Amino acid sequence: MPGRLEGKVAVITGAGSGIGRASAELFAREGAAVAVLDVNGDAAAEVSDGIRAAGQRAMALTTDVTVDAQVRAAVTAVIAEFGDISVLYNNAGIGSTGAVDVAEEDDWDRCFDINVKGTYLCSRAVVPSMMQASKGSIINQASVAALVGIPNFAAYCAAKGAVASLTRSMSVDLAPRGIRVNAIAPGTVYTPLMEPMLTARGGGDLQKGLAITIAKYPIGRLGDVVDIAKAALYLSSDEAAFVTGSVLSIDGGMTTI
Ligand SMILES: NC(=O)c1ccc[n+]([C@@H]2O[C@H](COP(=O)([O-])OP(=O)(O)OC[C@H]3O[C@@H](n4cnc5c(N)ncnc54)[C@H](O)[C@@H]3O)[C@@H](O)[C@H]2O)c1
Repeated sequence: MPGRLEGKVAVITGAGSGIGRASAELFAREGAAVAVLDVNGDAAAEVSDGIRAAGQRAMALTTDVTVDAQVRAAVTAVIAEFGDISVLYNNAGIGSTGAVDVAEEDDWDRCFDINVKGTYLCSRAVVPSMMQASKGSIINQASVAALVGIPNFAAYCAAKGAVASLTRSMSVDLAPRGIRVNAIAPGTVYTPLMEPMLTARGGGDLQKGLAITIAKYPIGRLGDVVDIAKAALYLSSDEAAFVTGSVLSIDGGMTTI
């Protein structure tokens, strides 16, 4: 049976770890040729090597999404290797803790640079390839932090809110060109990114932070990287042909209470 992404070329940023890694592995199993981009080149190479060892197609590119020249070079290399890009998953992101009165300016800027500007730069670089083919799917990684106020995450909430707004703006501009743009708003998934945030929530105690967080999830557990990867797979696939401009919550009911 053909995979759900057969014939597609997918670029995933921040794919050396966590949700991005799980998505790269799932997309490749579903037939896509996957470009694994990460600022951590060793992590990207490990993911790409693993996919290729399983007999699927992947390439690794050391790319900082905040550096336009690196982003453009990566996109050029992907098109040369695999052809026009059909899917861009703007997944790379970092966390940031602190209420607005204590948030450090450097952390604030870094949070916006990677989460928001990185999404803009990667989209700007990839869109011409999608326009060429008059089709494509862009998925931006937002968060439940875009939808509800989360204590002590001022910069992160603001940056992910900007990602959700950018998604709606991009969707109206690009729909006439055959390009769909959606965001995913994941609830908490235990990954390296979340560990400092969970530890801060527990007042320095990770286990306490985890317990406080799980209590906010009606479904009774945190998310798994594969829960989010499956949503990205759907939005990437032709099954989502009429879906654009949406911010899809994958959060075990967290934002309903
Ligand atoms: N884990 C969660 O609970 C959660 C919830 C909601 C949203 N998210 C979002 O999901 C995305 C992935 O998070 P994760 O939890 O898998 O994190 P992670 O830390 O496991 O992975 C993030 C990856 O992004 C890479 N990265 C960081 N800065 C980069 C840059 N400038 N250029 C390229 N790559 C860069 C890192 O090297 C890392 O491999 C992020 O955008 C995050 O904000 C995560």
